[in-house]
Amino acid sequence: MNLNTNYDKVKDSYLFVEIAKRVSAYTAENPSAKIIRMGIGDVTRPLAPCVVAAGMKAMEEMGRAETFRGYSPDSQGYDFLRERISAYYARFGVKVSPHEVHVSDGAKSDCGNIVDMFDTDNTVLIPDPVYPVYVDSNIMSGRKIIYCNATEENDFAPVPDNNVKCDIIYLCSPNNPTGSAFTREGLKAWVDYAQKQGAIIIYDAAYEAFVTDPAVPRSIFAIDGARECAVELCSFSKTAGFTGVRCGYTIVPDELCGGKFANMWARRQSTKFNGTSYIQQRMAEAAYSDEGIRQNMENIAAYRKNAELISDALTEMGIYHTGGKNSPYIWLKCGTDSWTFFDRLLHEANVVGTPGSGFGKNGEGFFRLTAFNTYENTAEALKRIRKIL
Ligand SMILES: Cc1ncc(COP(=O)(O)O)c(C=O)c1O
Repeated sequence: MNLNTNYDKVKDSYLFVEIAKRVSAYTAENPSAKIIRMGIGDVTRPLAPCVVAAGMKAMEEMGRAETFRGYSPDSQGYDFLRERISAYYARFGVKVSPHEVHVSDGAKSDCGNIVDMFDTDNTVLIPDPVYPVYVDSNIMSGRKIIYCNATEENDFAPVPDNNVKCDIIYLCSPNNPTGSAFTREGLKAWVDYAQKQGAIIIYDAAYEAFVTDPAVPRSIFAIDGARECAVELCSFSKTAGFTGVRCGYTIVPDELCGGKFANMWARRQSTKFNGTSYIQQRMAEAAYSDEGIRQNMENIAAYRKNAELISDALTEMGIYHTGGKNSPYIWLKCGTDSWTFFDRLLHEANVVGTPGSGFGKNGEGFFRLTAFNTYENTAEALKRIRKIL
């Protein structure tokens, strides 16, 4: 037996372990310090009431013989949810047929699993800084990765270079960690590039619900030509607070690889995955109902208010940053290296964020703050930050 030695090449996930270590060392020495956590990438507000009600109703159905459900007939999701997701896309003018929607237990799983679709021989292009799952899942399966630079020069929204050859492209917009988002033109350039290369784009739209700017598309399928060269991953996690519930989906258009990609993905999922639970899917259906969207938007509005507060404060302080507009993430320039800034914020302001260097080499000198804390804590953190910067 030989183990998969590609795992030896995956870097330890040192970032959040190191943050926890430094915070606990500091609080051990300063037990009365009131630490405010602005590094969290997890939602904090509770589920929308109509989502909870749908979950309870589904649970009751499972407790009665007449309405009990076992394995779902199709591991790609129940029709009621696939239709609801299709209707959700129609709200912002994007046509996606219910059969093109493949329901899962979250975007992270789909992101990790989609690498099964590709030959090991493909070259993968990934913007740096990056959500680490794109990198690690390709290293684990032994693929060559090349990086494109997201930097201050391009406002962390990189543009494609026709001289660079690749087969698979990862894009995330609005972006984690930088909060930057592609405009229609920016995204069109990537679709054109992918088509010229014969490459496929894996587009992560996990933060689409935060988009407010009409120039920023909420789906790659708002772009002409994308149906021939892209799949889209999305999630209820940030839109509807489902990080602990678990539900996501991947859109595979009929046109992709002449229909072969959709068949392969369905085959993969039905072989290795037995579907998302009926209860989760009923909750997700409620999240995309008129009332669910209205209730979830109240939560998103609260996060947006925090994001705006952070962004406005940084602007006033003359600190370069991206995000905070179409995103819960704010990516700011430290003026020092990322870990020195982390320590300074922790020690002098008792505020915890995430060092940008943990997301790739271009993250060095940058820092990620998130809008997922309460308004009061966010305002208090900014008051402290203003004092020290
Ligand atoms: C860019 C991005 N994609 C995907 C995910 C994971 O989503 P899910 O909770 O649906 O697995 C996250 C979670 O933080 C994320 O930031």
